[in-house]
Amino acid sequence: MQDQAQKAVTESRIIGVSTPRIDGPLKTTGTAMYTSDHNFPGLVYAWPVIATIASGTITSMDTARAAAMPGVLAVYTHENIGPLYRTPPTQGFSMIIDERRPPLEDNVVSYYGQYVGVAVASSVEQARAAAEAVKVTYDKRSHNVEEKLIGTPIAEPGIKKGTARGDVTSAFKNAAVKHDAVYSTPNETHNPIELHASVAVFKDGRYTLYETSQAVVNHRDVMAAMLGVPPENVQVITRFLGSGFGGKLWPWPHAMLAAATARNINRPVKLVVSRSMMFQSVGHRPAIDQQIQLGAEPSGKLVALGHHYVNHTAMEAEYDEGCGEATGFLYSCPNLAVTSGLVRRNVGVPTAMRGPGAVPGLYALESAMDELAVKLKMDPVQLRLLNEPDKDESNGLPFSSRHLKECLTVGAEKFGWAKRTPAVGSMKNEDGATLGWGVASCAWGAMRIDTEMSVELLQDGTARVTCATQDIGGGTYTAIAQMVAHETGLPVAKVNVILGDSALPPGPISGGSWTTASVTPAALDAAHHAVQTLLVSAATFPNSPFKGKKPAELEMVDGTVRAKGSATPQLTMAEVLKGANVKGITGTGKSQGTFGAKEEYSFHSYGAQFVEVTWQPEIARLRVSRVVTVIDGGRMLNPRAARNQIEGAVVMGVGMGMLEGVEYDRASGAPINASLADYIVAVNADCPHIDVTFLDYPDYKLNALGARGVGEIGLAGVAPAITNAVYHATGIRVRRLPVRIEDLM
Ligand code: MOS
Repeated sequence: MQDQAQKAVTESRIIGVSTPRIDGPLKTTGTAMYTSDHNFPGLVYAWPVIATIASGTITSMDTARAAAMPGVLAVYTHENIGPLYRTPPTQGFSMIIDERRPPLEDNVVSYYGQYVGVAVASSVEQARAAAEAVKVTYDKRSHNVEEKLIGTPIAEPGIKKGTARGDVTSAFKNAAVKHDAVYSTPNETHNPIELHASVAVFKDGRYTLYETSQAVVNHRDVMAAMLGVPPENVQVITRFLGSGFGGKLWPWPHAMLAAATARNINRPVKLVVSRSMMFQSVGHRPAIDQQIQLGAEPSGKLVALGHHYVNHTAMEAEYDEGCGEATGFLYSCPNLAVTSGLVRRNVGVPTAMRGPGAVPGLYALESAMDELAVKLKMDPVQLRLLNEPDKDESNGLPFSSRHLKECLTVGAEKFGWAKRTPAVGSMKNEDGATLGWGVASCAWGAMRIDTEMSVELLQDGTARVTCATQDIGGGTYTAIAQMVAHETGLPVAKVNVILGDSALPPGPISGGSWTTASVTPAALDAAHHAVQTLLVSAATFPNSPFKGKKPAELEMVDGTVRAKGSATPQLTMAEVLKGANVKGITGTGKSQGTFGAKEEYSFHSYGAQFVEVTWQPEIARLRVSRVVTVIDGGRMLNPRAARNQIEGAVVMGVGMGMLEGVEYDRASGAPINASLADYIVAVNADCPHIDVTFLDYPDYKLNALGARGVGEIGLAGVAPAITNAVYHATGIRVRRLPVRIEDLM
């Protein structure tokens, strides 16, 4: 299968070819049903009551006035919400949840915005008014949202993580050239445009849950455990996502509130999380301090790399950002250690956000590499090329496919790096503004997750493909359709892909940039099996023109069945199915995950980010004006969708570098800029010119298609390339994101 598929996909007319998204027209015409678009007879609305302190206990809740308000059906608190259970421990990709405490479990408040009650009413306005009328009395304690991370005792649980080799302490001490600094990144919030939402329908002991979920199978299992029912009594549906960036990977407490209230009042309940609540209770990338210690020989050869980070976590969660993700293998270095710690803060529970670990980790490491290059008086591209490893030094494994050096050299060429003059402030554009040019490398892991897929060939000439994965917006529907079109010869328009329903064959999370690599081999496999069965039918049905032929002597070309090597006779798929009088023929397919399997290769994508900033000190104006990004992400199955992913990620990188960060109110402990007016994300006006190049080396060690994934790699490296460019323009090294104008004055 492997060789055959490899050959087939390299010669395909559809795989590797830019294909418009098959779900595009549904979205642009408003036909796509997002979670909150679902309505049912008798549907009512829930609105959470939120804690307005960050730490303490509830001493009383007065719900009488709220309950008497117009349209109000019920008001729930920890005293009457009914059973909600904690989930059993996470195992592999099952039962994953970051906020393990069910909502309204008791009277303890550990962050501002924690749900402490929920009102249900006939309209959303009535529900909101009632929720806001609930009077909560607290025994308030002081919170710690503002305390520094490094510099305070690294408290519980003080995890220390591996990837240690050699003796970094003495190697650093004895290094000829050294750099040692701390880099800080703030709490960042995902802010997908689609608000988190749940529409819960409870009937005869069964739950149908319309959710904003990047992982419907896990969501079903977690919800079943929390509601105390068997998983077969829960169905989770997510047809479309207005993105998620990791914030929608695992269930959050609003989903349990929707399901529990639907159960309690026996009516369908809709709960849409408001934008401000999305800064509180659906995860964020935590605030992180990272110390990087680099030691090098005068030649630039690295001899010591220490990476020590601390991230905040919530009082009742142990979320580790994993900033050492890329540190162990990015460069060759004999002495290396990554250590980490957590500090508990009165904040909502952090979670994975696009490129978790690697994105902030590379901000620190790639900033430090730039600072080292300055100390060495060396070109920063050269410094990176010089430290290229020939295997993954963190585990001794060979790289499946790594072309970081080519990313750097191709990027340098496209950017015009050779024209860079290294002196600070030495470059100007034609208007006299100062230019800064910066570079950073990036990397992100590649992996496959267990996937099952079903392909049904139907009498009406279409194929129906099903899998319990989701399309987060990046093109999963289309990638699967391309595979089935390739295998059957049907046009993409005749392939109907049904995703986002936990009742379908189990599929992967829409996360980790793993979806494409996981679903596409399964889709090819399922389509292949369906076609094989169709050929058996074609050879055997009464009055078949192929009577007497063995199925192996037939083939399907361009959607028609014919004898190998002969253009006539031919039957369309529909004619075969009609002749055989079967409505449809199903093939199932599988792709095995790499998770937990014996590791034989180090699987990663790589890239290089080249950034130009334009600095006009006289009006304090700093802009990212140009980005050249070169990505080594395996084979691109749909270059158009892939480019779109990288461009979006670069824009998000401009946000990370220049704009984004949650500020906490010292008095209340609330995330205070909790709106899209105050938490600034990059918009069109902030977008630089973006030039994306894919090296397009297939990674056949990962799958027969040679595909990895591009959801996250494009974000990694952007922020440090910006701060490195800012240094080149201004001489100011910003080690605390985002770069603020006041940092440069
Ligand atoms: Mo991504 S943080 O795995 O959605």
